[in-house]
Amino acid sequence: MRSIVLKAQGLKKYYTSGENVTKALDGIDLDIYYGEFAAIVGTSGSGKSTLLHMLGGLDTPTAGTVRVGDKELSRMDDEALAVFRRRSIGFVFQQYNLVQTLNVRENIVLPILLDGGTIDEDYCREIVTLLKIEEKLEQFPNQLSGGQQQRVAIARALAGKPSILLADEPTGNLDSRTSQDVIAFLKASNQRFQQTMVMITHNPEIAQMADRIIRIEDGRIKTSVPGYAEDEHAKMSGPKTADQESPADMQTRSTAAGRTETSRTEASRGKSASGHSMEGGAEQCSR
Ligand SMILES: Nc1ncnc2c1ncn2[C@@H]1O[C@H](COP(=O)(O)OP(=O)(O)OP(=O)(O)O)[C@@H](O)[C@H]1O
Ligand SMILES: [Mg+2]
Repeated sequence: MRSIVLKAQGLKKYYTSGENVTKALDGIDLDIYYGEFAAIVGTSGSGKSTLLHMLGGLDTPTAGTVRVGDKELSRMDDEALAVFRRRSIGFVFQQYNLVQTLNVRENIVLPILLDGGTIDEDYCREIVTLLKIEEKLEQFPNQLSGGQQQRVAIARALAGKPSILLADEPTGNLDSRTSQDVIAFLKASNQRFQQTMVMITHNPEIAQMADRIIRIEDGRIKTSVPGYAEDEHAKMSGPKTADQESPADMQTRSTAAGRTETSRTEASRGKSASGHSMEGGAEQCSR
């Protein structure tokens, strides 16, 4: 049986302003499994970022719980929560949240240094090369384009090899080719380090690279179906006949058929599989 890394139960987040109540989350039950690569999709304002913040213990719910392993986040004190976040979670925020007074290199290694950890310089070099920010390490965030800042935020989240990566539209500001390359790298990292990844995206092609697509609507989970990350496995074992399909497979087919957003294309699969040389002469992440 697959083990559960993050477990949300009865999660609600209500914002009250005068007589208005915004139900950003309205009863979410969600299990995220070890090593899973899950995509969260849904319209703007549906509650995706709110859910991701709750899963990472960045915000407290109005009701319900989030458990990481056997720990309930809301029962941890601030210090324990901060340590848990620094050691176990890599965040890519929708607004990047880079420290403006630190250069790119310092931003990338900051979470590791705050935690007193050791920087894996070879890995940092790999990341900044792949993300094509090796020339920018000495620059400050306000000297970078939006897409470059986004790539720095991704590098920062990955540098400490967190066991859980929570990413809010990590490719929202990137062109389609760069987006595919970044996601391919995230998937490789997910497999290489057995990381668990939860990623919000508005891009249907990217969502289909996930193991599971969780659709949020009005603060609730509308559907939660497998993505198509098992392509390689499927190719090896050949197409399934109808009686080999699991109920989940069938649910996926019928749901995908009814959703133009999730129509898979050969082109997207081809791009996602595009390999990348990890070699490169980037400057080091650390001093
Ligand atoms: N601090 C806040 N105070 C009041 N309302 C909030 C707050 N944060 C979020 N909301 C509301 O909660 C709802 C969900 O917001 P959230 O940011 O989770 O949406 P989202 O799905 O991430 O949207 P997007 O795709 O645009 O990023 C929205 O209606 C939003 O206005
Ligand atoms: Mg959002």
